Amino acid sequence: MANSTEGTARIAVTGLATMGSNLARNLARHGFKVAVHNRSFARTKSLIEQHGHEGEFVPAETAAELVASLQKPRQVIIMVKAGGPTDAVIDELADLMEPGDMIIDGGNAHFADTRRREAALKERGLHFVGAGISGGEEGALNGPSIMPGGSPESYKHLGPVLESIAANVDGQACCVHVGPDGAGHFVKMVHNGIEYADMQLIAESYDLLRRAGGLAPAQIADVFRTWNSGDLESYLVEITAEVLGHVDAETGKPFVDVVTDQAEQKGTGRWTVQEALELGIPVTGIAEAVFARSLSARTDQRSALQDGGVNPVDVPDTLVDDVRAALYASKVVAYAQGFDQIRAASETYSWDIDLGAMATIWRGGCIIRAVFLNRIREAYEKSPDLPSLLVDEYFRSAVEQAVEAWRRVVVTAVQAGVPVPGFASALAYYDALRSERLPAALVQGLRDFFGAHTYTRVDKQGTFHTLWGADRSEIDA
Ligand SMILES: NC(=O)c1ccc[n+]([C@@H]2O[C@H](COP(=O)([O-])OP(=O)(O)OC[C@H]3O[C@@H](n4cnc5c(N)ncnc54)[C@H](OP(=O)(O)O)[C@@H]3O)[C@@H](O)[C@H]2O)c1
Repeated sequence: MANSTEGTARIAVTGLATMGSNLARNLARHGFKVAVHNRSFARTKSLIEQHGHEGEFVPAETAAELVASLQKPRQVIIMVKAGGPTDAVIDELADLMEPGDMIIDGGNAHFADTRRREAALKERGLHFVGAGISGGEEGALNGPSIMPGGSPESYKHLGPVLESIAANVDGQACCVHVGPDGAGHFVKMVHNGIEYADMQLIAESYDLLRRAGGLAPAQIADVFRTWNSGDLESYLVEITAEVLGHVDAETGKPFVDVVTDQAEQKGTGRWTVQEALELGIPVTGIAEAVFARSLSARTDQRSALQDGGVNPVDVPDTLVDDVRAALYASKVVAYAQGFDQIRAASETYSWDIDLGAMATIWRGGCIIRAVFLNRIREAYEKSPDLPSLLVDEYFRSAVEQAVEAWRRVVVTAVQAGVPVPGFASALAYYDALRSERLPAALVQGLRDFFGAHTYTRVDKQGTFHTLWGADRSEIDA
């Protein structure tokens, strides 16, 4: 690096695979002089050769050169493989940086790792920002949704840069300071969990329309195209129409029929469910989606039981509209659960996350972007302490209007033998919240019977135990 570039770059990106190089190009296209570095220099060279004309880049062969090229306080975005590689890069950078400098991890880190890294770097006077970045490679280039955590002070420097490269909806950047330490990566994790749930519900809609309703993929593509207006309008519904309408060039078959029916669950969906279990928050929609993927991969069990059949059922004439209603209502439940999880974590870790702001920054750039998020934003703006999205006037009435059709869909699916774990568990969750009494009372009784776990009563204060093995009298516990 020529000395003339020392101390001139506004920001740096290290890790120039798909995400990092696109993010660097996005920064350069927005007028930021961006220093770029990769473990193997070939990627850096290729970025400059192919895209150097898009803005001002400072290629660096070593991490030391990269750090030297930056204005102070220095800001380096890491876009490398999550886990060990991220730690290795952080260690190398931290040794080269000064108090007040910032290291930003834009990878898909687990929020607990982000908390650990933030605490360690804070001791050295460095800011560490775990920033969730959603939108895949296209988003990284043209405007992702960005969920940065870290200190408010680091956001003062970083915010204007990130907000200018993020997606923008109605004049608002899809980027906001989420909260301290691991808050950004936590929210990104739940975002991905909701993405799992959303896709599962879409997949169930397709399966039911095809196997019980008898529609062909191309017809279902048209159904999704129609749905992509009004309250279901979203990126995922839009691309569902594209994927279902696609025909395999080699065989002439619908593309969906030549793809193996085993889905992966790489990490964030599983993490979301694990953390929900820790927090005691029922995220049944996300859990069903993760399990449905795991089940799809159990080819040994599937091939042993496969009989291919769908039971003949009287499919209601309203099936398409019913499925639309079930999809919408189940989606409301999945989002309500995801927001519950964010709220619970925010309280547990004292993050003070603004839930309405999360809905706002998910409106563009990310995979779950949807018109529907405007409603969520409005709900939390009206009532920041809303106990559940399902309680909000708009969602409550939308779900009430959908519920009859939703039940018909679940009944039809059960009778036909088409699995709809997402629809069914969302409905069960809704029905549980509506119930005046839950059978948890019986569970408590059983626990007291076999393990003297005690119980509380509806009619008086205190904790009690029944002497089940003796005269069954009740004692104060
Ligand atoms: N792909 C997506 O759609 C997406 C979306 C959101 C977030 N993310 C996250 O963004 C990050 C980057 O994703 P990606 O798909 O662009 O790349 P990736 O395949 O996850 O990682 C490849 C990059 O990591 C570098 N790397 C690997 N091990 C390293 C080590 N020990 N030290 C230094 N560098 C190392 C590689 O350098 P070499 O070239 O030298 O091998 C390369 O630049 C990941 O954390 C990913 O989870 C990805």
